[in-house]
This record gives sequence, structure tokens and C-alpha cells, in this order.
Amino acid sequence: MPVKSIYTNLSLAQRREILAQRLHQCRAATLELFAGMDSVTFCAQAHPDFSPVGWHLGHIAYTEAKWLLERCRGDRPLFPQYQQLFAADGLPKHARVQLPTLTETHDYLEVVRSEVLAYLETASLDPEERLWRWIIQHESQHSETITLVLLLQGKYPSHPLPEMPRGSNQIPDLAEMRQIPAGYFDQGNDSLDALDNESPAHSVYLETYWIDRYPVTCGQYRVFMESGGYRDRRWWSEAGWQWLQSQSTEIPLTQPLYWLDIPTREDHPVCGVSWYEAEAYANFVGKRLPTEAEWEKAACWDSSTLQSHPYPWGAAEPDAHRCNHNHAVGQTTPVQAYPEGQSPSGCYDMLGNVWEWTADWFDGYEGFTSYPYRGYSQAYFDQQHRVLKGGSWATRPGSLRGAFRNWYHPVVRQILAGFRCVRHLV
Ligand code: AVJ
Ligand code: FE
Repeated sequence: MPVKSIYTNLSLAQRREILAQRLHQCRAATLELFAGMDSVTFCAQAHPDFSPVGWHLGHIAYTEAKWLLERCRGDRPLFPQYQQLFAADGLPKHARVQLPTLTETHDYLEVVRSEVLAYLETASLDPEERLWRWIIQHESQHSETITLVLLLQGKYPSHPLPEMPRGSNQIPDLAEMRQIPAGYFDQGNDSLDALDNESPAHSVYLETYWIDRYPVTCGQYRVFMESGGYRDRRWWSEAGWQWLQSQSTEIPLTQPLYWLDIPTREDHPVCGVSWYEAEAYANFVGKRLPTEAEWEKAACWDSSTLQSHPYPWGAAEPDAHRCNHNHAVGQTTPVQAYPEGQSPSGCYDMLGNVWEWTADWFDGYEGFTSYPYRGYSQAYFDQQHRVLKGGSWATRPGSLRGAFRNWYHPVVRQILAGFRCVRHLV
């Protein structure tokens, strides 16, 4: 059965309290990324596809005010001067560099937040709770994008890698695959936290397949690089080869964006590849990328109880022992470091560490309805965006679950994305 809200037995006062806590935790985490930031970092556009971090911060306040204060409570805009600047469809990305200061933006967030908390005291949660949860997830997602932009600017503070379990005394076979038996499983999510694109939950039949137990590691990907994978037309699709050539006009592209050539990285997942690089690697090893359904069944389906869990390990909320998320480590970790986060099928790192590209174009499930606006998901059902699953080391807990769907153009390498592969065996 689809996942149901676990809060339905709570009193209204308890529901308000939980929302207030989550709003607060999410905000504290967002602001931590801005601690001591200089104005150049705040306003600079690190890459044409991404807005400055300061814009993201203002947009978080704008979105919270727009939905909770203007749409729900019926207020007029508190800060009309920011309406165009911080709207998602207000200005082109390159025109988002003239921003209020960090202090001014901080005040904007604070004023909006104090109004929002006052409104929370009396808001009708029965119709609105989904929107409140959406707002928290919206901020969570922008917080990950802020992280990417800081990485691109070389401004994300470097975190020393803590001691990580490396499979105790037996070295695991990182090329191992797990068999997923044929049958139906429940895909998607109808809980109160579900984003529009996760619903309606539905049953999907899949034939038997095998899926990589771990995400593809740097050590494995190195074989592809050292065999001349980036020069060998055979492994690339038409679109992939075209993209590769277009990227190699000055210096040939020969490695992932976040590649670090150090031996201690060999068992970390590859990070910073476009969908085309993932596709080429899969061809090189005689496998392919999983469909979204194949990924989700391997992550969440328990074939012994015939149930999908919200998380690979069950129903407990993500914590630092089960997966690398929420900046707890501040970088990737060895793929075998989280045995407690295994899925019922025995797959590691299905949540956290790196996002994983899947074979599918982003699209709505049968019966899809937009929420809270068409531009959130539906505008991207255009056969131009591939689905990513699983979340990364920078993903906030609110956006980390098996049913969560992320999407990007197949050429994007700036996100914290790797992949794993599948194969049908007879
Ligand atoms: C789902 C991460 C692709 O950042 O463009 C934020 C999320 N949508 N504000 C994005 C989103 C509106 C979206 N991604
Ligand atoms: Fe947004």
C-alpha cells in the first residue's frame, strides 16, 4: 500500500509544533551555508545555468511569503520591491547579480518568517498542511542548489573525511549485482509530504533484472577513463557523442567534473557526470542505466512482506548512520560505508552520497495533477529532462526518500550525481 501520513493521529497543536520545528531546522541549515560569506560570493554567477547563492536565499523568502502569506492568508506583498527580482520567472539568471546585501536578505527572511509563524498559530491545516510541507521541501531543495554553486565557486568549506568503515576485514566485491525477482511493486508516494510528481502511487510489473549493489565507484570509472572511454565513439550515443564534442572544443573532456585524483577516493562513487557519461560507461561495461521503476523497486520494495517502504531500511526517518546526507560529512563517502542503510534487496547507498541518473525522461504518472502550480513539475514533462533518484550528501532530510524524483537536462554535470547500472541476465 502507498505510504500514509504518520501524523494523522496528532492534535492540531502538535501538527503546528512539528511544522514550526521543521521550518526552524531547515532555516538554520540554510543559513549555516551563508555564515561569514563575502558579498562577491553572495552575488556572483558561478555558471550560466545557475543563479547566485544570494538569489536563492531571497527566492526562499519570496516563495514562503507568496504561498503562505499572500495566497493563504490573503496579504498584500510585504516587500513589493523584491517581487520581480526573486520570482522564479522574474528575471533571466544572468540578471540576478544585483542583489540586496546578505544582511538585507537576512532581514527579509526574518520578517517573512515571523509573519509566517504568527499565521501558523491559526492557519487551517486541514487544507493547508500539504502546502506547508511543500514550502519546507522547496527551501531544502534550494539549499542543495546553493551548495552546488558554492562548490563551483570553490567556496564550500572543505570537510576532512572521517574514518569510514571499509568493509571491516573482508573487502567487498564492489562489482557485485543483486537479483530483483519478477513481479509487481508499488511505485510512488501519496503521503502528505509527496510532491505532485510522486503521485498517484501505482503498481508496476517488472521482469527479473540485476542491479549494481553499489553506485559506480571512481575506481571502476577510472578503468573507463584509462581505456580511452572519452575518445571511443563506440560507447556513446549519437546525442552523447555530439555533447562530448561540443564540450571538448578547447580542452578535451576526460573526467567527471568533481574528479579528485587521490587513492582514498577509489571506493567513493563517481560524482559530477552528465547523463551521457553515465550512459557511455554503462555501454562500456555491457550494462545499461536502470529505469526509474527498476531503481525504486531495488531501493524500497520488500519482497518478503510485499510492501514498499519509504526508505530502503524501512520507515524510520534518515539518520547519520544509515546514509550520507544533510552535509553531515560534507563530501562523498565510500560506497560500502553504510551497511545499516541497505535496502531489502541488499543495495547500498540508495539514499544519500550521490544522486543517481536513471534511463527515464521525467514525466507525470497516470492521473498526475499539478501541485501547487503547473511550473513546479509539469512544465518539465518535455522529454528534455532525465530523472535522478536517491539524493546526495547535500540533500536535506525532507527531500530524501525512495519516491522522491529529481530532474535535470542530460548535459548537466554540476549536480552531485553519479549512477549505478542494471542488466537482464538469462
Ligand atoms: C527539482 C531541483 C530540479 O531547483 O529547479 C525549486 C526544484 N522547483 N524551486 C529546481 C525547485 C522550484 C527544482 N529541482
Ligand atoms: Fe524555487
